[in-house]
Amino acid sequence: MSYKQHFPIFETNKELVYLDSAATTQKPKQVIDAVTKFYEEENANIHRGLYNLSIEATKKYEEARKIVAEFINADENEIIFTSGTTNSINLLVYTIDSLTWTEKEKGKNEIVLSEMEHHSNLVPWQQLAKHFGYKLKFIPLTNNFELDYNKAKEIITDKTAILSITHISNALGTINNVKQLITLAKQKNPNIITIIDAAQSIQHMKTNVKDLDCDFLAFSGHKTYGPMGIGILYGKKPILEKLRPFYFGGDMITSVTLDNSEFQNPPAKFEAGTQNIASVIAMAEAIKFINNIGLSKIQQHEQELKIYALTKLKQIKDIAIYHSPNIENTSSIISFNIKGIHSHDLASLLNDYNIAIRAGHHCCMPLMSALGISGTARISFGIYNTKDDIDKLCNALIKIREVFEK
Ligand code: ALA
Repeated sequence: MSYKQHFPIFETNKELVYLDSAATTQKPKQVIDAVTKFYEEENANIHRGLYNLSIEATKKYEEARKIVAEFINADENEIIFTSGTTNSINLLVYTIDSLTWTEKEKGKNEIVLSEMEHHSNLVPWQQLAKHFGYKLKFIPLTNNFELDYNKAKEIITDKTAILSITHISNALGTINNVKQLITLAKQKNPNIITIIDAAQSIQHMKTNVKDLDCDFLAFSGHKTYGPMGIGILYGKKPILEKLRPFYFGGDMITSVTLDNSEFQNPPAKFEAGTQNIASVIAMAEAIKFINNIGLSKIQQHEQELKIYALTKLKQIKDIAIYHSPNIENTSSIISFNIKGIHSHDLASLLNDYNIAIRAGHHCCMPLMSALGISGTARISFGIYNTKDDIDKLCNALIKIREVFEK
């Protein structure tokens, strides 16, 4: 059975072969309907009105928080709504000094990231390091496109104040053993703050924040079958209580005088102003959609497709595939190059076949430098992809390569 039927975009674009779900997933009808229904039937601001529409909107908004919390095994007051993963990480970068400054005074000023971070989990930390006296360190890769866990043991030290790591590489598809890194980090410095960028993992595998024991975890709605403009930042309750707010304004306060303000408890303390209410409510629909299929079924479907795609891609002449041989440690993202063809040319030519892929550095310029390349062609799957999509891709790649060979 194909899951395409749940996604109106495949009705309106019948020939579309969409292989760019790591950039953004397509949206199921129930998510689109939830957005439309909100604006047509339910639109009101939340936490402010004493009339039915506002009371109902508030109820749905807070119910969505519960649904998100259950999805990752968190408590509902540990879920902050943001506008996306980038926003979630920036929130932390602008406020984390309120958690780490006493440690920093004792010389614990190292931030550990990895060489495979997306710019959204690198550029903000660079700014923090530059302006607030932290030192950046990076876990390198092995030749298998995996993190070097032996080197991690040397790089993470008792001076490490912050560890922020992607769960799955958006360019390579490698699944990182974040639990192992968090355990190691807490052994080295029990006061370390640990953060997982789950933008590429949350929609592909079961996430349990209690089991991972991370302090924070960030992800986006739009990569998770949800609407654009909504993201989540999970934080452990005692840590959120200590973290200072980022945005200041209405709804995040308990009392205000001309000279001073008192703030609400988390998560309200981090949600100043009017939120993206329609998208929060639709995000809950996206999670219901995922739960109805089941993450284990999604994972199985995508693993099968990945193995099929890897087998077929490997048959193409002059192809270089940047993927770990330990495929149980990889997600449904495959990067490759074909000798003599720039990845941008490949993507443009595939577009002539109605095949959508991403090409270039994938917002991972340091990773591309580590691999000694300027970019790759990248395919990434969602629940709607089929073996037929892979066949169309591989047939098109063979034809494109033949044209370049002439
Ligand atoms: N992070 C998104 C990607 O990898 C935009 O394509």
